[in-house]
Amino acid sequence: MAYNDFNMDSHWLPFTPNRAFRKDPRVFVAADGMTFTTHDGRQVIDGISSLWCVGAGHNRKPINDAIKKQLDTLDYATAFQASNDQAFKAAEMIAQMAPGDLNKVLFCNSGSEAADTSLKVALAYHRARGEGHRNVFIGREKGYHGVGFGGMSVGGIPANRKVYGTALLPRVDHLRFIHDPANAYIHNREPESQEDFLLELENRILPLHDPSNVAAIIVEPVAGSAGWYIPPRGYLKRLREICDKHGILLIFDEVITGFGRMGTAFGADFYGVVPDMLNFAKCVTNGVIPLGGVICRDRIYDQMMKTDAAEHVIEFFHGYTYSGHPVACAAAVATLDVYRQENLFARAGEMGKVLGDAFHSTFKGLPNVIGIRSLGLAAAVELAPIAGSPGKRAYDIFVDCFKKGALVRPAGDVLVIAPPYVVEKEHIDRLVNTLADSVKAHA
Ligand SMILES: Cc1ncc(COP(=O)(O)O)c(C=O)c1O
Repeated sequence: MAYNDFNMDSHWLPFTPNRAFRKDPRVFVAADGMTFTTHDGRQVIDGISSLWCVGAGHNRKPINDAIKKQLDTLDYATAFQASNDQAFKAAEMIAQMAPGDLNKVLFCNSGSEAADTSLKVALAYHRARGEGHRNVFIGREKGYHGVGFGGMSVGGIPANRKVYGTALLPRVDHLRFIHDPANAYIHNREPESQEDFLLELENRILPLHDPSNVAAIIVEPVAGSAGWYIPPRGYLKRLREICDKHGILLIFDEVITGFGRMGTAFGADFYGVVPDMLNFAKCVTNGVIPLGGVICRDRIYDQMMKTDAAEHVIEFFHGYTYSGHPVACAAAVATLDVYRQENLFARAGEMGKVLGDAFHSTFKGLPNVIGIRSLGLAAAVELAPIAGSPGKRAYDIFVDCFKKGALVRPAGDVLVIAPPYVVEKEHIDRLVNTLADSVKAHA
């Protein structure tokens, strides 16, 4: 099927209903600042930072220039048994930004690879300290950690798991989901909850597996892909305490919350909780070039280096051909410079309040609205599903908004807006009003 000057026959699109897409395609051909141009010449506001990636907005000259310069200087170099200057620079900047003694960066290329890498580090670390029996992982219902077998196994989105059966990792359990229906409306603050969402971990999950067998617990500080679900106050601090009590590693998957989304460098800073590993991707390069990674606490790296093996022996048999790719790392260095020079994390926090206020004043009381959640620079409106067709209402609204010039994100029957940190109030108003018109039209 040809569309203008491209043919759509060969590209199988990810996480997309391909049959519907081919009848009514959404194709971008250019982007600048907050706005895309589509193949049919329309302007669409990027209301989701292109899947939580483009914190600094599109087509940023310092990032593009750094990439072009890097391509002409060192295009690529093997990552094994050698490295490149940009990888060291990027790792240093990331380690300096990360809280506590999260100081050692393992690079990969995506959030999915970061998830699998962090799980492998956990097993290798425990084995190195003589606790190789620790091989149980605990994720959380509705958690998203990408699509590798490890990330899928600890992930908790049923549709992503259901066809993979026993190919998923054994010895994985899941914390209960963090949503309290009594907190359907969360307005720019951490909710308080009467529910104790960690009681089951202490009373059932850990005794069942025996805590001494648990390698790691992995959670997103805020559940992003599920539809911006925010933990109750104190939840992550208590999770940290439970992990410490039992020698369990705590992994924060900050692929969405990392690099500014919460108005701080990381969700770990926002919540004042330092995990043992912190996974990142997306905003680290403004989405321009794939890069991900895992930041590990010093003690993990130190333990892995404490080996009796001869010095020529590799301590951790893991890595990707493109780990620390020089062009991606040059993009990261430039991106982190832009964030710092333009004070964009603080700006994300400020504009998040504007977004949250707009959500609560606009959506409250509209047809089918059963929840509104805002914190950091992201907000979600939850709709009652159409009986027998879960997800259909939000999907139709997403398609409609796109036609009206606003890219929003459907997740089940939740619609999320998470714009670039450079967003202006007028963009927020247009995004929110377009979404509100569409919610009304799909009542
Ligand atoms: C928290 C989290 N972890 C992991 C991933 C997977 O990242 P990727 O799509 O780069 O593999 C995502 C993607 O949205 C994510 O939100």
